[in-house]
Amino acid sequence: MTGRPDWTGRRLEVEVGPVAHGGHCVARHEGRVVFVRHALPGEVVVAEVTEDAGGGFCRADAVEVRTPAAGRVSPPCPLADMARGRDRCGGCDWQHASAETQRELKAAVVAEQLQRIAGIDWPVRVRDLRRGLLRRRTRARLAVDRRGRAGFRAHRSHRVIPVADCPITAADAMAEVTGRQRRRGRPVARAVRGGAVARESAGGRAFDVSVQGFWQVHAAAPDVFSETVARMAAVPAGGVAWDLYGGVGLFAAVLAEQAGPSGSVLLVESSARAVEDAVANLRDLPQVSFRAGTVERVTEDEDLPVPDVVVLDPPRKGAGRAVVEAVTSRRPSRVVHVACDPAALARDVGLYAERGYRLRELEAFDAFPMTHHVECIALLEATGE
Ligand SMILES: C[S@@+](CC[C@H](N)C(=O)[O-])C[C@H]1O[C@@H](n2cnc3c(N)ncnc32)[C@H](O)[C@@H]1O
Repeated sequence: MTGRPDWTGRRLEVEVGPVAHGGHCVARHEGRVVFVRHALPGEVVVAEVTEDAGGGFCRADAVEVRTPAAGRVSPPCPLADMARGRDRCGGCDWQHASAETQRELKAAVVAEQLQRIAGIDWPVRVRDLRRGLLRRRTRARLAVDRRGRAGFRAHRSHRVIPVADCPITAADAMAEVTGRQRRRGRPVARAVRGGAVARESAGGRAFDVSVQGFWQVHAAAPDVFSETVARMAAVPAGGVAWDLYGGVGLFAAVLAEQAGPSGSVLLVESSARAVEDAVANLRDLPQVSFRAGTVERVTEDEDLPVPDVVVLDPPRKGAGRAVVEAVTSRRPSRVVHVACDPAALARDVGLYAERGYRLRELEAFDAFPMTHHVECIALLEATGE
């Protein structure tokens, strides 16, 4: 107990400061930090406190904009309308920002995390994957409310905001789901291009992905990411590559093309079902071998082929110390690290630096338009230190 009055529900007029990781901006009021959603840096807004977390900071939603920033736009989705107050959909963070502003905000977050966590000053530019912010998602996970209506949750809440259409998902996807999945209280596992197995493609190759398997969310991401990973990895002909957290084989396919028939690629993936899909997807590439298991466990095996290049694409929490140490102890000349969370990326880049691997290149992509998420692909090279 701090003895401080609880600010929840209070309305504050604040001048909005810089963007922070998580889809909000930082403001200060009476000496306290307030993380304000639905605002932009430089704006003056009235913000309603939604959560007083104690410990000095609060969370708030902008409910009125007194001085708008140049990058402010009207949200294309009616569920992001300011007039809905706390009933705004929690799926998007930046519906009120222009495309260019969204990319600038994400670039600022990546740069700030690298600076603060890894101590690296790096100029970051976030690239558009494909022009336009709408209809880019090929996957969505919905919740279902007590009345059987499918929707997304409100921000930091279990409340379901029913959604008839979601303008950032592929056309007609929501209509298909909301029409089909009305079973009371049951979460909808996967939508869009429905069925138990989705047929996807990248780089001219077809990939089957089972319903719970992973596939990049943005329609253009599989092509662009596999091209970028291939360019950075540059596996020599006859060389050895590891594809850690390999999913259904998206990156292993391009690494195998580079290594050629005399080289080898080891794909490691914890989901047995994803490994089954990967084996089938890459059956024409005998130079790829597969290990079902966690990266933490599999990389303990001293008998793995020594890699020239390691590609890692961990889930949001990143690779972490044990995996970075397991990878760098094999001294690959290059590590290509794919990250969807800038804080985890910065922590891992710092861990690589401790092990003598320096950041050489960083590509950042707006793979999740309208949300605060951003995908980064980093090239790290052994320095010999
Ligand atoms: C971000 S996805 C990347 C998949 C693939 N690289 C792609 O782009 O399609 C991460 C993958 O890692 C797997 N995974 C999660 N934790 C893991 C772990 N500890 N060890 C191995 N694989 C893991 C997930 O099942 C998922 O397929």
